[in-house]
Amino acid sequence: MNASGSVDPPTSSRPKANQLIEIQVPQAPSVSFRPLLFSTSQGYFVNILRVKRSGILSRHQHTGPVHATTLKGRWHYLEHDWWAEEGGYSFEPPGETHTLEVPEGCDEMATLFHVTGAYVYVDPYGKAEKVEDVFSKIKMAREHYEKVGLGADFVNQFIR
Ligand SMILES: [Fe+2]
Repeated sequence: MNASGSVDPPTSSRPKANQLIEIQVPQAPSVSFRPLLFSTSQGYFVNILRVKRSGILSRHQHTGPVHATTLKGRWHYLEHDWWAEEGGYSFEPPGETHTLEVPEGCDEMATLFHVTGAYVYVDPYGKAEKVEDVFSKIKMAREHYEKVGLGADFVNQFIR
């Protein structure tokens, strides 16, 4: 009970994930991701990728299937004539290499990605430059949560 005689709402020492800006993990300038699930047992991850700039983001190949639901904005792959639009669903088959672009005039893109296996980032000639998978995502998130004061273990709630 507080000084005015009313009962304060219960509080939890654990931050509520959905209320935190810090839950977004920066991965590049104007690019961040919000972890939803890191499946180390099955080798996939689910996250919401947020991009707050237009232009080419990356050229990459997938070693496993990718399912995407666009929540906000729009984007496309230079290699295809379809566009990922708000509310739309896209499938990316394993083995495909493509180049992600957010168009001019799109201030923010947010997409829920379910990614099995790895992203292999490649140069314009297809040479691998960097690999990203559930384990590198966990590492990035762990380091970010430690840095912003949530604690490295904050990432554990997403790991299955
Ligand atoms: Fe992709």
